[in-house]
Amino acid sequence: MTRAKIAGVGSFVPHKVLTNQDLSKMVDTNDEWIVARTGIRERRISDEWTATSDLALVAAERALTAAKIFPKQLDLIITATCSPDTLFPSVACTLQDKLKAENAAAFDLSAACSGFNYALAVGSSFIASRSYKKILVVGADTLTKYLDWTDRSTCILFGDGAGAVVLEPSKDADHGILANCLHAEGNLGFNLVMPGGGSRDPEQKNGRFIKMNGKEVFKFAVRALETSISEVLKMADLKVADIDLLIPHQANIRIINHVIKKIGLSNEKVYVNLQKYGNTSAASVPLALDEAVAGGRVKKGDILVLGGFGAGLTSASNLIRWEQ
Ligand code: ACO
Repeated sequence: MTRAKIAGVGSFVPHKVLTNQDLSKMVDTNDEWIVARTGIRERRISDEWTATSDLALVAAERALTAAKIFPKQLDLIITATCSPDTLFPSVACTLQDKLKAENAAAFDLSAACSGFNYALAVGSSFIASRSYKKILVVGADTLTKYLDWTDRSTCILFGDGAGAVVLEPSKDADHGILANCLHAEGNLGFNLVMPGGGSRDPEQKNGRFIKMNGKEVFKFAVRALETSISEVLKMADLKVADIDLLIPHQANIRIINHVIKKIGLSNEKVYVNLQKYGNTSAASVPLALDEAVAGGRVKKGDILVLGGFGAGLTSASNLIRWEQ
């Protein structure tokens, strides 16, 4: 069987930093509460001229450079996003044009914060079926553009960013993406919504801001992430003790701590950077992966689990034996 390997990783965040201190001047909150309840200390905010594809472009260029390939060599671009520049064309098509990747097919995938893990699974299936050989998978979001800055229960959580990987066929069947699992619980979708802007409300009469039932999403996140990690390990015939590095969706340190306690994984085997970026939605996992790789936390043969959860409600994980 042909497996997909990650041949290069890249990421990008906007320069502007918004600290908890800054937020405390905008809304009734404080650094202590935000750090204790979420672990987040600051996040990056894109300016009004920057759209999701602008962040995605830099992350994609960096991933292509790391993989040592040219845009023309790409067969497919998949962008996971829930904050596209426009309803259409897709961010992936905009990216194809900006990169001059004229040989690539391109489409967006919508699974909110689980989007990158969903897209990685889709990309690895195209490699396994030998349909494509070089695939760019991007996770990019600018959710701060959809925040109600007077709602302290949501505006403290999110940041903007982009991360990207290049997928290629692995040289041996024991390395690369070994397993993935995707789930959705659409019946719980009402707990996390962007009500305006779609075909049900094109004029955004119901508002243009993210609405969330934080407590319900929290409960779902802990349950779904734990299930997803356990399932992907079982699929690869591995155990929690085999994990070298878990890269979970960076939403809230309390969610991550609950999950690792439940599955019995030590803190040292978990990559966390949410203190710097907040929840960057589809970008969070590839952004953390890029930092982990650049920081020397990942070596050949390591078992990595990338796990996500998000609006939908959705959850997804990928298990990788690292080869680069
Ligand atoms: N600063 C100070 N106080 C606050 C703030 C704030 N920013 N926000 C809420 N509070 C207050 C509340 O008003 C409440 O006060 P009260 O007791 O007087 O009523 C108190 O703090 C507790 O509020 P809760 O909502 O119960 O706080 P909770 O512990 O549930 O934390 C949080 C809220 C951080 C949102 C948590 O529920 C959470 O992280 N949920 C998961 C969210 C998540 O991960 N979402 C992303 C999904 S990914 C995607 O697809 C987009």
